[in-house]
Amino acid sequence: MHVKGLQVLDSRGNPTVEALVITEGGGYGRAIAPAGASKGKLEAVDLRDGGKAYGGMGVSKAVESINKYIAPAILGMDSSDFREVDRKIIEVDGTPNKSRLGGNACVATSLAVIKAAADTAGIPLFEFLGGRRARTLPVPLMNVINGGAHAGNKLSIQEFMIVPAGADMFSDAIRIAVEVYKSLKSYLKERYGPSAINVGDEGGFAPPLELTRDALNALSEAIRRAGYTPGNEVLLAMDAAASHFYRGNQTYEIDGKKLSSAELIDYYAALVDEYPLVLLEDPFAEDDPEPFKELRAKLAGKVIIIGDDIIVTRRDLAEKYFAGGYIDGAIIKVNQVGTFTEAEDTIRYLLGSGGKAVISHRSGESEDTTIAHIVVAYETGLIKTGAPARGERTAKYNELLRIEDYLGSEAIFAGKKVFLR
Ligand code: PGA
Ligand code: ZN
Repeated sequence: MHVKGLQVLDSRGNPTVEALVITEGGGYGRAIAPAGASKGKLEAVDLRDGGKAYGGMGVSKAVESINKYIAPAILGMDSSDFREVDRKIIEVDGTPNKSRLGGNACVATSLAVIKAAADTAGIPLFEFLGGRRARTLPVPLMNVINGGAHAGNKLSIQEFMIVPAGADMFSDAIRIAVEVYKSLKSYLKERYGPSAINVGDEGGFAPPLELTRDALNALSEAIRRAGYTPGNEVLLAMDAAASHFYRGNQTYEIDGKKLSSAELIDYYAALVDEYPLVLLEDPFAEDDPEPFKELRAKLAGKVIIIGDDIIVTRRDLAEKYFAGGYIDGAIIKVNQVGTFTEAEDTIRYLLGSGGKAVISHRSGESEDTTIAHIVVAYETGLIKTGAPARGERTAKYNELLRIEDYLGSEAIFAGKKVFLR
């Protein structure tokens, strides 16, 4: 097995790392590292060049990590032993947060290796990882109104998602979501003017709204105008990414108001009563984990609570917060931990313990579609990969449509039951 790195661009126009793996068996795999804008403190760190070129965002050092350090270390290893390969990458890096080689170098290599292994075996990646029984297509959590760190508006909450879980099959869920997305577009334009349909980093609209309820009302109206009933075919979800509006000392600044953690619990509870919300991600800051527990207990049976910044795809943190009753599951972003094997370990722990694993993109993405295969392989039933618009987002939906087509009548759609605790 040989690996080679290359600097390419992500969807925000920032340089990122691509790895190409070629195996002795004639297979190849190519993978591109994504990049976050709303990161947890304990994430694997990306290696960036600094300096003038690309505003310091270049990744030639990370590319060098692959060519100079990773390539010789894994030369001759078999791609089907991808767990061994990941162990080797972790060993060569030798830091707790991949800061020597760069998380971007590690994740691109690690994902290229599993893709090359599947290609060498002559089967799709989801089948290589999940076996012949893997056939469940996920419910997409589609971020159609962008706020927080992803947009230039005043919305405190980062992501407002439509969840077409009432569809019969995945392709039907895509159709419903597109119809609602289009209806949202015309509603926002009519109500807030033409600039309201500019889009944010994940393909969702970034309208000049200020209040959480304004965004939730817009979604409910768009669902109705598309001919559906909120809470029936289409449910709602939010990623508060609350670390961004946390002001320390159990105080949050949301919707122009200062709320204590306890008041924020009540605020979320009121929203869950008013709107068909089924999933809340990062409702509190990573530095304020205690209220997760109370919110989860209070909203039992109504909504599932998902951790992103507090878990950063780490198995030890997933165990701590899931077993402790803080969360119902976690967001899985392979680049938060840096290797596929570490992310897989977290997925297996969560699913094996009755928890949820939401396979997720980053706000900085590319044409890479690996996450579409991971979500089907482990049948987690939940994916977050943005609005049904912009190539780097639709690439994942299109790959899932191909997988559904490949599975034919064997394909299953996760549907609403995935939200049961
Ligand atoms: P990102 O955040 O910008 O770091 O990808 C997305 C998220 O918070 O889920
Ligand atoms: Zn998040």
